[in-house]
Amino acid sequence: MSDFEGLSALVTGGASGIGRATARLLAERGARVAVLDLETSTVDKPLLAYRADVADDASVRAAVAAVVADLGGLDVLVNNAGIGAQGTVEDNDDAEWHRVLDVNVVGMVRTARAALPHLRASAHAAIVNTCSIVATAGLPQRALYSAAKGAVYSLTLAMAADHVREGIRVNCVNPGTADTPWIGRLLDATDDPVAERAALEARQPTGRLVSAAEVAGAIAYLASPLSGATTGTSLAVDGGMQGLRLRPVRP
Ligand SMILES: NC(=O)c1ccc[n+]([C@@H]2O[C@H](COP(=O)([O-])OP(=O)(O)OC[C@H]3O[C@@H](n4cnc5c(N)ncnc54)[C@H](O)[C@@H]3O)[C@@H](O)[C@H]2O)c1
Repeated sequence: MSDFEGLSALVTGGASGIGRATARLLAERGARVAVLDLETSTVDKPLLAYRADVADDASVRAAVAAVVADLGGLDVLVNNAGIGAQGTVEDNDDAEWHRVLDVNVVGMVRTARAALPHLRASAHAAIVNTCSIVATAGLPQRALYSAAKGAVYSLTLAMAADHVREGIRVNCVNPGTADTPWIGRLLDATDDPVAERAALEARQPTGRLVSAAEVAGAIAYLASPLSGATTGTSLAVDGGMQGLRLRPVRP
């Protein structure tokens, strides 16, 4: 399938996990793809790498300008870069709240702000934000991370309204627990990674973690010109975690 033929895409956080799978999928489907990340040594052809920090406005502006110059324009922005946080409201200090909101929320604002003038020139402009199930379901020990993703969810709706008449669609994906290096790091930090992984798998009705490729497929669906009537939506990619209520399995 080559629905992205002739289009240019920028994926933030595209050096790892969901972003990496997305960048590769968009390239397979015909797009010229740029990756913006803090660390770009793992980014290989045909992807183009741009080192930048979404928490630093100047570096984002410089990277987006370079991407547009190199690719000749920009049609798709995937706002995916993000960091985690654990604990209740008692566990993170103000500096940590500011840091996580700065990367996970304002980071998306910075890239969108830099990209919008170029997206307006596209006949197939789309922004897809990587949100999370924590925006729509209360999970324990995720107060700060949930507040950030809740903001991403609302930001997606507001941006969709602001830019619909400019021909720019804005949607988000809400993954459940996805099997990426991020989750690997979280599991490695626990006393019993095997038991912890089993608990995370059991939390999803499908009984397994979501794959990065499955989230990438949903992002590509929303970004594709084939989805021209879809804006202001969130697409759950969570193994049924948000929508289903199963009876416990009897031993
Ligand atoms: N893995 C999950 O279970 C899960 C679930 C729901 C949502 N998400 C979201 O998916 C997105 C990607 O997560 P992942 O699991 O692939 O993580 P990951 O850690 O594998 O990849 C994240 C990438 O973002 C980059 N990044 C982090 N901070 C950055 C910054 N300031 N500037 C530029 N790049 C930066 C990292 O270098 C890394 O390459 C995040 O927004 C995360 O919140 C993940």
